[in-house]
Amino acid sequence: MSLNIAIQKSGRLYDDTTRLLGSIGLRVHNTNDQLRAAFRGFDAHALFLRNSDIPKYLEDGVADIAVLGENTIIEKEADVEIIEYLGFQKCRLSIALPKGVSYRDIQDLQGKRIATSYPNTLTKFLDDNGIDASIHLISGSVEIAPNIGLADAICDLVSSGSTLFKNGLEEQTVILQSQACLAINKNLTAKKRALVDQLLFRIRTVLKAQQNRYILMNVPNERIEQISSVLPVLKSPTVLPLVEAGWSSLHSVIREDDFWNVINRLKELGAEDILIVPIEKMVV
Ligand code: PRP
Repeated sequence: MSLNIAIQKSGRLYDDTTRLLGSIGLRVHNTNDQLRAAFRGFDAHALFLRNSDIPKYLEDGVADIAVLGENTIIEKEADVEIIEYLGFQKCRLSIALPKGVSYRDIQDLQGKRIATSYPNTLTKFLDDNGIDASIHLISGSVEIAPNIGLADAICDLVSSGSTLFKNGLEEQTVILQSQACLAINKNLTAKKRALVDQLLFRIRTVLKAQQNRYILMNVPNERIEQISSVLPVLKSPTVLPLVEAGWSSLHSVIREDDFWNVINRLKELGAEDILIVPIEKMVV
């Protein structure tokens, strides 16, 4: 009994997904571009699928677990369970109009033609806001629609915003925020759920490591306690004596997004030679 892990066959998610799985020891042995291939290092197979097909396969139990964008789950209204957000492929589904077209709020979409690959999400958004607009379904390159007279506005994914910019469009209203997530079929057997839990444990060690940094610095002995209180991530920091009398090397872990907030405080308290080092895995 092996776990079937659905992965986007090609596209933006593919690289990040295979990198994440590789970092937890799951490397796929796929020399012949097969659509199903065994992983080395874990009792699982990869199913390489089209992004938009993944939610249905997951719901039906063809795949047990998948890495996919939350936006795709929402669009396909799939009855699956999200068990972890992965922090990559962050994007938003937004309404955009040609630059220079006046737009005060979503009421300005009344009677407009909107091109999108996300008809269900857009329909719900329009209905919730009492907007009567016509939806023009396009499966890709949606940003071209206003330029060729096919639509007045678009509703598409925005990440860096460069595709909008290149096509003379301006983002106006964000409909939803999304990122890659780990989702599972809701009716897994106990054995498969146990495999999923193993996988999740490994993934969390990597995600946690990405959110933190190892920090080491030289501190005057009389300041060890004060400096430790500024670095509250682990149980307590490691303190090692330096050859120079009265000084110690203090090691701890700090949240990546806290670093710039505490660096000045550490210096004020007398810390010197502060080094920040990436962490590969973190089990706490
Ligand atoms: C997505 C999306 C936008 C673009 C946005 O397309 O549909 O076109 O990325 O990214 P940006 O804001 O960083 O420019 P993708 O390249 O995945 O291909 P697709 O349009 O064929 O789905």
